Amino acid sequence: MQSRTLYNGVELPMIGYGTFQIRDSGECEQCVADALAAGYRLFDTAASYENEAAVGAALRRFGLPREEWLVTTKLWVQDAGYDDTLRAFDRSREALGVEHIDLYLIHQPFGDYYGAWRAMERLYREGAVRAIGVSNFTPERLVDLCMNQEIKPMVNQIEIHPFYQQWQALRVMEDYGVVPQAWGPFSEAQKDIFNHKTLAGIAGRHGKTTAQVILRWHLQRGIPTIPKTVRRERMEENLDVFDFALTDKEMERIAAMDIGHSEIIDHRCFCTARQLNSVKIHG
Ligand SMILES: NC(=O)c1ccc[n+]([C@@H]2O[C@H](COP(=O)([O-])OP(=O)(O)OC[C@H]3O[C@@H](n4cnc5c(N)ncnc54)[C@H](OP(=O)(O)O)[C@@H]3O)[C@@H](O)[C@H]2O)c1
Repeated sequence: MQSRTLYNGVELPMIGYGTFQIRDSGECEQCVADALAAGYRLFDTAASYENEAAVGAALRRFGLPREEWLVTTKLWVQDAGYDDTLRAFDRSREALGVEHIDLYLIHQPFGDYYGAWRAMERLYREGAVRAIGVSNFTPERLVDLCMNQEIKPMVNQIEIHPFYQQWQALRVMEDYGVVPQAWGPFSEAQKDIFNHKTLAGIAGRHGKTTAQVILRWHLQRGIPTIPKTVRRERMEENLDVFDFALTDKEMERIAAMDIGHSEIIDHRCFCTARQLNSVKIHG
């Protein structure tokens, strides 16, 4: 597995396994076990996915040495703020059943995320997490955080796919040494992406699937990603992307698919701030 090195030296696999919306714990445990068997070594969960316990159980049961796999989890908005973040971290670590978390992210740029960041800096210094970062931070919020805190985020996990390519956000991250990680790499299957003419045409020429062309496009942009599938054969398909290369022309044709905004969620809208602040994951 290829990886990207974070500025503190941690190696982030280019392809990890996403677990959003796999809520049933039996199904989630089976999926993570299948993904491990298929070769995934990075697993992405979040307190708000309500599946940390299932992800952790599968990881521990599989029995690989701890240094051979990574787990990412995320702090929910309700738990922003210094003290609440430390408490939420303990809950996540206990649910996952691990001594350290490899990558801990602020899930959303809402609530007291400055307080949360200071708590995460402490967790990082104490060695409870190997890397810290943020998610869904728009460029202006990311720059503001970078310019006002001692430790800069190592990762910003944001929505990136052929319909929303995030060119400006990527340039800003590069300026600050923050590694992007693509969530929704398949645009959550929206807009019939797997049957898109451009992608299907390129896939046909390489004898690959549209999903593999999309992942290859992410790889050639240097962007680590975390596709989700509950199907074992698709887990394997989504890892089988290291034996072909898109041409510059094909990369340009995919670049032309960008519509420049998300049709999944708009982090600049007041309605998103209102909605995400009202999601409570515990009493
Ligand atoms: N930080 C955040 O705010 C945030 C937000 C969203 C997601 N995430 C993370 O990013 C991960 C990935 O994003 P996502 O789950 O939202 O969406 P995604 O990975 O873009 O798309 C998942 C969809 O693609 C389908 N799929 C996967 N592989 C396929 C293949 N080879 N052929 C055809 N269909 C395929 C899946 O169906 P099947 O499962 O039926 O195969 C599912 O419907 C999440 O699981 C989560 O860990 C983070």
